[in-house]
Amino acid sequence: MKLKDRVAIVTGAARGIGKAVALTLIREGAKVALVDVERERLEALKEDIEKKGGQAAAFVCDITKSSEVLAMVQQALANFGRIDILVNNAGIIRRGTIETVTEEDWDRVIAVNLKGTFNCSKAVVETMKKQRYGKIINVSSIAGKMGDITSAPGYGPSKAGIDALTKTLARQLASYGINVNGVAPHAIETEMSAQWSEERRKEIIASIPLGRLGKPEDVAEAVLFLASDQASFITGEILDVNGGAWMD
Ligand SMILES: NC(=O)c1ccc[n+]([C@@H]2O[C@H](COP(=O)([O-])OP(=O)(O)OC[C@H]3O[C@@H](n4cnc5c(N)ncnc54)[C@H](O)[C@@H]3O)[C@@H](O)[C@H]2O)c1
Repeated sequence: MKLKDRVAIVTGAARGIGKAVALTLIREGAKVALVDVERERLEALKEDIEKKGGQAAAFVCDITKSSEVLAMVQQALANFGRIDILVNNAGIIRRGTIETVTEEDWDRVIAVNLKGTFNCSKAVVETMKKQRYGKIINVSSIAGKMGDITSAPGYGPSKAGIDALTKTLARQLASYGINVNGVAPHAIETEMSAQWSEERRKEIIASIPLGRLGKPEDVAEAVLFLASDQASFITGEILDVNGGAWMD
């Protein structure tokens, strides 16, 4: 087991990539605080994990609200005694163009994706510094690197902001034994991507050298690597998980 007795917080854990990340970390021996706004799915996942002998706690928390995030982190600490890993995965997308996007859509996407990542990172740093150990892994997107034609213009900038935040925190926290990295997925089969038309799916698959859509588990294994001590000399990296659709 790569993460035996490690404690992780995973945001957006109720479904999709976050759920796959939570289950992968559990498989590798971590105890996981599951964070989301969707209470029912969160509770169902916690029960499922516990039935299989894993340890999890469920926290209904809107990551855009720093007071809720602080309370969640305090409670996770009280439950598990330490916080080794934070996976900032929760995110939202809106479709549209610069003409159709509303100010509210822009604000919400930036608030969840970028400010939420900031709120959760800020809330765990003191603990990780004291431990002189921590792994922060941010789920970004290919859209932060190359832009995106179908998402409303807030999404790509929120992810580019996450990439810059990752590098900033990697520099600021390196001397405390904290690694900060990101993954940049593309075209992963989840409820977020289920909005694509059949035509758009075909177009996307045709643009991916490996010739298929990604699975949540493809992202989860990359997150696991960055969360493990196998990646201890890596920080400030944004790892592409995109089937070769973008290479940098
Ligand atoms: N699916 C893809 O193709 C793809 C590609 C690139 C990047 N990503 C990124 O991966 C991450 C996960 O995506 P997914 O496809 O699993 O999405 P998803 O919509 O299936 O799941 C996102 C989860 O985040 C939760 N969430 C939303 N707002 C929240 C908030 N304010 N506080 C707490 N939780 C909140 C949702 O309830 C949901 O459970 C996102 O950051 C997304 O931008 C996804």
